[in-house]
Amino acid sequence: MISGVQWITFTAHGDSRGSLIAIENNKDIPFPIRRIYYIYGSSYDAVRGKHAHKDLNQVLICVSGSCDILLDNGKEKETVHLDSRDKGIYIYGFIWREMMHFSEDCVLLALVDRPYDPEDYVYDHDQLLRLTESEDKK
Ligand code: TYD
Repeated sequence: MISGVQWITFTAHGDSRGSLIAIENNKDIPFPIRRIYYIYGSSYDAVRGKHAHKDLNQVLICVSGSCDILLDNGKEKETVHLDSRDKGIYIYGFIWREMMHFSEDCVLLALVDRPYDPEDYVYDHDQLLRLTESEDKK
């Protein structure tokens, strides 16, 4: 996986009735959750995201269906396929992300460590490259 992103595997408590996954702050994920949102009803052709965040920790879990997420840290790119209920991607670096190829039943859950702040978004991919270069010079 590219730097700034890692997989997290959750413990599924399964029995003959089905499965349950519990996620607790600072235990199953490495930050306190301050916001939750979820994406659904996106078509296979829709592309969401197309931004980076200046300062955000986030875990994305496909709790139903599947989708692809393109992750780009300015130096390396990787597309991951999310289709497991017990796996999420933890994005903690300055990462450009694009979500796409949503299945009809896709529900993409996001657990985030900050309230919504439009000022935290970077929509200019060139800015990502400039910021990555200036980090390298430090
Ligand atoms: P948007 O950023 O376009 O979603 P995506 O990252 O999936 O492309 O968000 C869609 C709308 O939802 C936009 O009007 C902003 C709003 N929104 C909130 O009000 N709170 C939030 O936490 C988020 C993520 C979005």
